[in-house]
Amino acid sequence: MNILIVGMGYVGVTTGLVFAELGWNVTGLDTDTMKIQELSEGKLSFYEPGLDLLLVKHLASQQIRFTTSLATAIRDNSVIFLCVGTPSDKDGSADLQAIRGAAKSIGTYMNDYKIITVKSTVPIETNRKMVDWIKESQNHPYPFDVVSNPEFLREGSALYDSLNPDRIIIGSDNEQAANVIASLYAKLTAPIFKTTPKTAEMIKYASNAFLAAKISYVNELSRLCETLEINVSDVTTAMGMDHRIGPHFLRAGIGYGGSCFPKDSKALLFTAKEQKIELRILEKVIDINDTQSTHFLNIWEQKLGGFNHKTVAILGISFKPDTDDLREAPSISIIQQLRTKQANLRVHDPVAKLPAALLSKKVQQFDTIEMTLQQCDAIILCSEWKDYIGADWAKLRASLNDFFIFDGRNMLNGKEMKDLGYYYFGIGNR
Ligand code: UDX
Repeated sequence: MNILIVGMGYVGVTTGLVFAELGWNVTGLDTDTMKIQELSEGKLSFYEPGLDLLLVKHLASQQIRFTTSLATAIRDNSVIFLCVGTPSDKDGSADLQAIRGAAKSIGTYMNDYKIITVKSTVPIETNRKMVDWIKESQNHPYPFDVVSNPEFLREGSALYDSLNPDRIIIGSDNEQAANVIASLYAKLTAPIFKTTPKTAEMIKYASNAFLAAKISYVNELSRLCETLEINVSDVTTAMGMDHRIGPHFLRAGIGYGGSCFPKDSKALLFTAKEQKIELRILEKVIDINDTQSTHFLNIWEQKLGGFNHKTVAILGISFKPDTDDLREAPSISIIQQLRTKQANLRVHDPVAKLPAALLSKKVQQFDTIEMTLQQCDAIILCSEWKDYIGADWAKLRASLNDFFIFDGRNMLNGKEMKDLGYYYFGIGNR
């Protein structure tokens, strides 16, 4: 079976390469000629462990190819996956311009039966609307089915997650179309859950919002633990031993970021408001996340005796380790807050680069941890890269002016750091 993937962003490239790995013939389509050129040469425009090697492997095996030729690509492929972006609009709703544009192109250029599968995270009822959008642009009423097949991969472990999913969700009103999509995943052992398109759309939002809720719950709890001098990590470790709770997504920190949780929780809230239904828990989840970094910055400011004219190292700017993605990264909000407090910032990340607009004489990025820490009064750890967990903190102490470490991810061992002579403060830590 020939598969076309529309949209060569993070999800599209990963999906395409995973289908190539599963033995299918894949074409990756994007309107961005530069992106297609680079992918054809084996270059990824983002950092994701393992994906670069898979790209080279499947270019060589000719299991994947890349194109900007919309009409030909649509005609040559019977199964089309939509992996275009659905960013947040100002009001929190999802911007469906790209998905609508793709639907229109498919309608215009299709020449026989197609299965159009939506991987992009889209608001409830978008799959149904897709049918209308495609029909409106058709010159001839060729038959087609629209199937919802949301993705659940995490950045940083996208390949592993895609090859070892907990479940595969297929939402379709046509059982045959659902079976075709299910057959694409036949080599994987994951359970397949078949349902309606609307339910599939909801499963994706409900899952992401629930994971965000777990994080905000422990983050709010961390504020109380902090004042009661209880270690929140001890609490959540023991909570996680209860199989009904589970150990995952209970790490307190400076808040969740990334391309999914912030966007999807707001989009679900927007849908609820449209239906005049209050999702009060979700409102609080978002509110807690929006205020978590400020809450702890204020505490740390007191410990340090003010950030004013202090030199502060920011370690780890990506929204989580093993990615260069800065979308909604808590580090960016922290950098902005510290700038208004007149701090001088020295920034490091193993992979991610601060956008030029954020760089200045007072905000500089360095290539090594050693250079970054020169003459700093304090360090704020924002994402838990292995480079920081495994760093030689005894040696690094020599570069510093003062020895405050504010660990926004509770990634270091507080006792060890204190033994090395640091003033160590985490999130909800004794
Ligand atoms: C998430 C979902 O996990 C994935 O299923 C969905 O398809 C896309 O969104 P991703 O955003 O890549 O994936 O990363 P994830 O590992 O879920 O982390 C999201 C954010 O939550 C990060 O900022 C991370 O630091 C934070 N987080 C995660 C916590 O603060 N505490 C935790 O316990 C777990």
